[in-house]
Amino acid sequence: MKVELLSHLACAFPWRDRLHCLDCVDSTNTYAKALAFNGAPHGTAVIASRQTGGRGRMGRSFYSPQGSGLYLSVILRPACKPVELMHLTCGAAVAVCDALENLTGHRPQVKWINDLVWENKKLGGILTELGFDSSGNVDYAVVGIGINCMTPAGGYPADIQNIATALDAICDFPISPAAAAAAILCQLENTADRLIAEKASIMERYRLDCLTIGKQVCTSDGVTGIATQIDDSGALLLSIADGTEQWVQSGEVSVRGMYGYI
Ligand code: BTN
Repeated sequence: MKVELLSHLACAFPWRDRLHCLDCVDSTNTYAKALAFNGAPHGTAVIASRQTGGRGRMGRSFYSPQGSGLYLSVILRPACKPVELMHLTCGAAVAVCDALENLTGHRPQVKWINDLVWENKKLGGILTELGFDSSGNVDYAVVGIGINCMTPAGGYPADIQNIATALDAICDFPISPAAAAAAILCQLENTADRLIAEKASIMERYRLDCLTIGKQVCTSDGVTGIATQIDDSGALLLSIADGTEQWVQSGEVSVRGMYGYI
C-alpha cells in the first residue's frame, strides 16, 4: 500500500513523511488517536487495508473488508478553541467531494452531516474525533474517512446491501484505495490550512454539496420537519409543521426517500 500511495503523491507533499500504512487494525481512528496522544505531528495519516472494528457516528460500525475500501484517519492540530472547529466534518466532506470529483469526473453529495452519497446510496462516511488539552483547547482532531472503492466480491452484508454503493458505480475504471487516499490527503492538506480563515466559503460549498436541504427529515429524537438551512457551524435548521423552527447540532437525521426512510 505504502509504495503505491507514495507513487500518487508529489515529492513536495508536506505530509509524505508521516504515513502509517497497516495491513489490519481495529480502527484507524483509534490507532490515530493513540498516535496523536503520544505527540504525532499535524498531517500524520493512518491507512489500513482492512479494519476489524471500523466505527461510524452514533456508535455504528463501518464495514471495512480487505482491499475494497479506503480506511484513512488523519491527525490535524489546528490551534483553536473547540467552538471554532464545529464545521470540521463539513470541511472534510467538501475536501473528500473535491478529491472524488477530481478522480472520477463526478461529484458525490453529502447527507448531513457526514455521509458521502452517490445516487441516494452511501459511498462512505466521516468520523471526526477531538482531543483536548488541560485548558480545554483543541489538542488534536482525528478525521476518519471511509470510502467504498470497489463493490466487495461477495456483495455487501444484508443490513447494508440496499444502502451501500462504491466508486465503481460512479466510473467504469477502477480507483484503488491508495489512489483515493492520495487524492483525499492532498485536498485535506489544502483545506486544513484554510479551515478557520475561509470557513464561510468552505460552508458555502458544503451547502451546495448537501442533499439534505429542502428535504423532509426525521431526527433521532423523533422531530420531523423540512431542512431549510445550514449555518457556518454546520448546524441544520428544521422547519416544523407546527410553524416552529429547531436547530439540530448533532445526532442523526433520516432523509425521506433515502436508506429506507419513507
Ligand atoms: C459514518 O458512517 O458514520 C462514518 C464512517 C467513518 C469510517 C471511517 S473508516 C476510517 C476511520 N476509522 C474508523 O473506525 N472510522 C473511520
